Amino acid sequence: MSGSARKPGKTPSHHSASERTAQSYQLERPVFFVGFMGAGKSSVARRLARTLGMASIDMDTYLERREGKRVREIFDEVGEEGFRAIETDVLQDLSAKDPLLISCGGGVVLRPENRALLKEAGYVVFLRVSADEAASRISDKSSRPLFNDIESARQRCQDRMPLYEEVADVIVDTSGKSVGRLAWDVRAILEKEGILCQQLVSS
Ligand code: S3P
Repeated sequence: MSGSARKPGKTPSHHSASERTAQSYQLERPVFFVGFMGAGKSSVARRLARTLGMASIDMDTYLERREGKRVREIFDEVGEEGFRAIETDVLQDLSAKDPLLISCGGGVVLRPENRALLKEAGYVVFLRVSADEAASRISDKSSRPLFNDIESARQRCQDRMPLYEEVADVIVDTSGKSVGRLAWDVRAILEKEGILCQQLVSS
């Protein structure tokens, strides 16, 4: 066998040493995880990537490395609007790469141009969480300049809900579910939708 052949589903049970194959996975389009702060976007993307032997990228981590500054510092220096401009640039940058699992910052849906790009370029998984559950999951709120008191978080979460719904290809409720379970559920969805494909690579 030369090169690689995509075969959804089955793994051959018999093959000679010269025909040995390894499984790998490929994405048809970038997969964007969106949702409110604390929804588990980065953890689920990371766990899924690990089970598939592929890479995931966290937008904020990528942005912080690129800018050489923490998100909070950027907010302090150039305000939310300045941060959003950088965020849009990073989203465009990541969308142009080979398809990846990408966990987005919670506010990525605020700009119409970002929403258009998410819908057009990728498959969007909306991990839904309530502000109250999110608050209980976030250990370090100091790194999130827009998660202050619970009242404003509830309002922000409610205001953004239609925007998350607008971009979502699928909505996954995270309430009471572990990261492992969510990664498993998302994997099944991506396979069913033909976004995640298995490849048999000859070695
Ligand atoms: C933000 C969410 C954060 C980060 C920034 C703004 C938001 O990312 O991008 O603090 O507006 O919801 P996480 O959703 O990964 O916490």
